[in-house]
Amino acid sequence: MTIQEIFSSEIKVEKNYIFRSEDSAFENQGHTNDVFSDKWEKVDEMDKTDKLYEFQFEWYLKLYGFDTEEDLKKFLQTKKVIFDAGCGLGYKAAWFAKLAPNSIVIGMDYSDAAGIAAKNYADIPNLYFVKGDIADTGFRPGSIDYVSCDQVIMHTEHPHKTFAHLTEVTTPDGEFACYVYAKKALPRELLDDHFRIATKDMSSEDLWEMSRQLTQLGKTLSDLKINIDVPDIPLLGIKGGEYDIQRFIYWNFIKCFWKEDWGTELSDATNFDWYSPSNAKRYSEGEYRSMISDNNLTIKHFHKEEACYSGRFGK
Ligand SMILES: C[S@@+](CC[C@H](N)C(=O)[O-])C[C@H]1O[C@@H](n2cnc3c(N)ncnc32)[C@H](O)[C@@H]1O
Repeated sequence: MTIQEIFSSEIKVEKNYIFRSEDSAFENQGHTNDVFSDKWEKVDEMDKTDKLYEFQFEWYLKLYGFDTEEDLKKFLQTKKVIFDAGCGLGYKAAWFAKLAPNSIVIGMDYSDAAGIAAKNYADIPNLYFVKGDIADTGFRPGSIDYVSCDQVIMHTEHPHKTFAHLTEVTTPDGEFACYVYAKKALPRELLDDHFRIATKDMSSEDLWEMSRQLTQLGKTLSDLKINIDVPDIPLLGIKGGEYDIQRFIYWNFIKCFWKEDWGTELSDATNFDWYSPSNAKRYSEGEYRSMISDNNLTIKHFHKEEACYSGRFGK
């Protein structure tokens, strides 16, 4: 299989960067693309990205049902073509490419991160990047053996259509791994929805400033080291139990991320990541399971945690 054979129309490859002849105008989700371009340019310059990547690799194994990295490696080595859909800075695509050196790995992102990734990982011979919409990849139907769409689909213009397209490009015996944000308690959902209506009209500077303020709030609450007992409040979707006060506010009212070992800049970027894209749908477990069954997929692995639902699906 050559890289050209994966695409249904002509492409041009310069080193590890793919140009598609029908490159779309990126008009639909312009705002979401701009804020991610902005975010990735900043993250690329930060010096704690190793911490972020280590965390993400560990989490990836858990999200998609791999016991160890070795387990993932064995799985990937059975896949000829691997697609990292919405690859951001491409660190997971690079991870896959190193674990499966005989496979072709393609990372696609709608933001400028695709170009940064191509420059950063130019030394990995089986890895390619392309800027584009994962809802319209230009791949032939049934051409990808493993589609990994991690923390992306809810930012696309029509997640259901994107899901159907990614299902279509997966080979009949391939697998499609996907993650969606979970719906949270009602006050948090209402604030998130209300806020995102306004996000489009806010400047990037204002959003970064707010992200820094939220980091400060998260840190201040976290430094209190106070645990509280909370009753079940089912009508508001608040689950009872003992919570650290920062976590209680975080899950139920407002995302105010703070992680000591990531430091301020990465915590700011995490808050920015949540509040800045105007597209960011959340799903109940039932809604996600319906999307999977609507596409006639079988569940190979299903995972849920407070932030998300994820899994690997076959045809
Ligand atoms: C939260 S980041 C996750 C990035 C990466 N998958 C990871 O796990 O670190 C979401 C990414 O999805 C990309 N994205 C959103 N909508 C997209 C679309 N329609 N096509 C391609 N990429 C998209 C954004 O540009 C951003 O880089």
